[in-house]
Amino acid sequence: MFVTFEGIEGTGKTTQIKKAMDYLASKGRECVLTLEPGGSRLGQHLRSILLHMESRDLTGETELFLYLADRAQHVATVVCPALDKGKCVISDRFADSTVVYQGYGRGLDPKLLHQLNEVAVAGTWPDLTILLDLDPEIGLRRALARNAAECKSREEGRFEAEAMDFHKRIREGYLTWAGLHHDRFRVVDAAQTPDEVFAQIKPHLDAFLEK
Ligand code: TYD
Repeated sequence: MFVTFEGIEGTGKTTQIKKAMDYLASKGRECVLTLEPGGSRLGQHLRSILLHMESRDLTGETELFLYLADRAQHVATVVCPALDKGKCVISDRFADSTVVYQGYGRGLDPKLLHQLNEVAVAGTWPDLTILLDLDPEIGLRRALARNAAECKSREEGRFEAEAMDFHKRIREGYLTWAGLHHDRFRVVDAAQTPDEVFAQIKPHLDAFLEK
């Protein structure tokens, strides 16, 4: 079982992923938690390049190929080996982030990005993708406060520093893309309390556990 979590910055993905891990463990499922960018050894280097404020001069295409390289290595060395052992894999962001951020956000062609993703994931698509949907005004405020509290504004703040228009395009892009892939996407209202948000997610996990 391969589950991914997506959403704009500050939606509470980390909190919900932890709840999902605990829930699946309570049902006897062995889970591996991973993330993009940065899920593999190589990916950790790519993550620090991609998110650092110094990388503001990267072209859209350069950024794209770094995310794809991160993904190809992540799938081959982390996701597939865990799935092959029968484990449940939960990834904080995956291929949909590329379509939405580099496509709907930066203006590259979403269809082309989907094809490039096909190369990077080599057939390993999520069974279930939870989209945490939130007004970017709220999400960004939360994300900026978190980065400041963790002193990460410079190392990990490149996307949070984008203009509000960019974040609005990301939110709309996610909703559009989720509508096009409603077989595996489940959209959850992330404006509620953490327990209320997880109450929306749990039935989707249960549906898979029953399969
Ligand atoms: P991260 O700190 O993991 O963000 P969050 O805590 O909001 O998940 O940073 C990942 C950033 O990288 C995030 O702003 C989205 C962006 N991103 C892309 O632009 N394309 C991608 O393919 C991926 C995986 C992430």
